[in-house]
Formats: sequence, C-alpha cells, structure tokens
Amino acid sequence: MKKLITLFLALLLVFSASALAEGKIGVAMPTQDLQRWNQDGANMKAQLEAAGYEVILTYSSNDVARQVSDLENMILNEVDVLVVASIDGSALDTVLSQAKEEGIPIIAYDRLLTKTEAVDYYATFDNYMVGTIQGTYIKERFDLDNVTEPLTIELFAGSPDDNNAYYFFNGAWDVLKPYIDAGKLVVKSGQTDFETIAILGWGSDDAQARMDNLLTAYYSDGVAPDIVLSPNDSLALGIVNSLKAAGFSLEEFPVITGQDCDVANTKNIIAGYQAMSVFKDTRTLASKVVEMVDAIMKGAEVPVNDTTTYDNGVKVVPSFLCEPVFADVNNYEELLIESGYYTPDQLAG
Ligand code: BGC
Repeated sequence: MKKLITLFLALLLVFSASALAEGKIGVAMPTQDLQRWNQDGANMKAQLEAAGYEVILTYSSNDVARQVSDLENMILNEVDVLVVASIDGSALDTVLSQAKEEGIPIIAYDRLLTKTEAVDYYATFDNYMVGTIQGTYIKERFDLDNVTEPLTIELFAGSPDDNNAYYFFNGAWDVLKPYIDAGKLVVKSGQTDFETIAILGWGSDDAQARMDNLLTAYYSDGVAPDIVLSPNDSLALGIVNSLKAAGFSLEEFPVITGQDCDVANTKNIIAGYQAMSVFKDTRTLASKVVEMVDAIMKGAEVPVNDTTTYDNGVKVVPSFLCEPVFADVNNYEELLIESGYYTPDQLAG
C-alpha cells in the first residue's frame, strides 16, 4: 500500500510538472557586450517562465559560428519555438532550415533574418522611425528650414550585417538629405555613403577610431563638427570618447544622437555630452514576443501589425512593430525612472 501511495505521489508530481511546463522555447541573443541584449534576454526569460515555459537562453559573443552551434543545440534539445536575435541576419539559413525540417516555428527578434525562407514572424521596433526621430531632432534643434549659416555634420551608420542599420540610416537620411542638398548641412569629410560610414559589429572602439580619423583629417582647425549623426548608443559612446580625448570641452561638443538609452549614454545625456537617444523599451518587445510565442503554441492568431515592410530577400515576413520614443534630458526621468526601467541610483554620478 505504501508503495502504491509513493507511486501515486510520484505520478502526480510528473503530471503537475508537465502541466506547468507548457513547452520549451529557445532564445538566441547576439552578445552580452551591450547592455540592451542582456536586458532583452533577461526580460524574455522572465516573461516566458512566468507564462509557464521552459527557456534555453544563449548569448553568442557576437560570433556567428557560435550562434549557429547554439541554435543547433537548441534544435537537438527539441525546443518548440525559436526566437532569434541574430548577429549576421543573413548567415543562418542552413541552421534555420534544419529547424524548419523539425517543424520548429521561428521568430526573428529585433533584427530581421534575411535570405531565408525559414522565418515565420518578426518582432521589432519601427527601425525606420528610429532614424526619422534622430533626423527630425537635428532638423528641429537647428531649425534647418530657417537656418542661414551652413552647419557641419558627420554621419555614422551601424553594422552592415544588421538589416536594421539600413533602416536607421535611411530614416535619418530621408530627413537630412534635402538640407545637405541645399547646402545648409555640410559633410566636411564628404563621407555619406553607407558602406563608408558603417561600423561593422557596432563597436564603440571602432566608432572612436573613425571619429579620431575624421577629426584629424577634417577638423584640425580645432573646431568640432556642429552635429554627429550616430545611429545608436554604442557608437555615440565611442564618438564622445574621441571628442573628449581630442580635448574638446563640453561647450564645444557637437550635437550627438543615439539609440537605446543605455545607462552610460543616459548619464552622458544628463551631463550634456550626448543630446538625445531613442528609447526602445525592451520590456515591451519581450512581452510582444511572448504573446507571439503563446499564440503559436496555442494555435491562436499571431499578433502582427505590418505585412508589407520587411522583405527578407525571399519573402515578406509578417511583423509586429513596436513604437520607439524620443528621449532627452527633459523627459528621461519620466521615461526611464518613473517607468521603473532604471533606478535613480543607476543613473547617478
Ligand atoms: C538594435 C539596436 C542596437 C544595435 C547594436 C540593432 O540591431 O536594434 O538597438 O543598438 O543593434 O547592438
């Protein structure tokens, strides 16, 4: 009898555990080097677990081969859905096709998976709008429609293997180009094409090195450019470091844009070294992706709000675009502290 009761209790445990664990979700993030991906990974894991899923979360040190093997392991581990924030969006077709053969649905997270049939959905922030926000900020800050003296500007773009980088640049370029054409904005270096201004891998050090070169070659008169268009915060950090190292004082600093509202950059915004950033609340994106996962697992309709924009070279991927928000010294407290994104301590000092 005692044995029977033990068996019954053991069975009960197994059943209740399987009732809780509704499925296994693989979440592949690119790297832990950047603050945002750590937040994305942590938010995804916490929210999926709260919804009752088991989670395999990987970070691949910005190493494409490692991300491929991380994904292979997830397939071997029989995940039910794959969520992938790629390093090189075009380099995963083989492993994603393997997943497809196993019947695993795939969601591209933040960055589109390109040149592959093996992607079902895409969730991101409106990437073109990120660039538009940056360009519009520059336009309004300098009242470019009415400006009489030409202003100098240098342009940076993100990593060429990241589909987002093109959208960010195009969004900003479409706002700024008319003023460049009209001679109101002058790119002293003449470097405006994407390939020349792009920073492979989004590294702060590489952005710093390019800014060093620009300052030496085109700003040796000691006058900094009026504006530097930076697509994101990791590049903005390198640009600020370069200007500081070149000896420019805060008063001489250009207006520098950014994206992500990373802690170091928000501190720079408070101190005046960076003018603005674009806030993409990673909690919002994570909860949207969890909704998508949940819908897939339950056979319900998956939420999307854009079925035309994101052509990955093989197909148009149904997408959900969250809305990015402008952030600067005037609204960061409300956006970042009052919303609970950061504690005041994190941004102090
Ligand atoms: C993301 C940005 C991020 C950049 C560098 C992009 O794909 O959308 O938020 O700053 O990658 O990691």
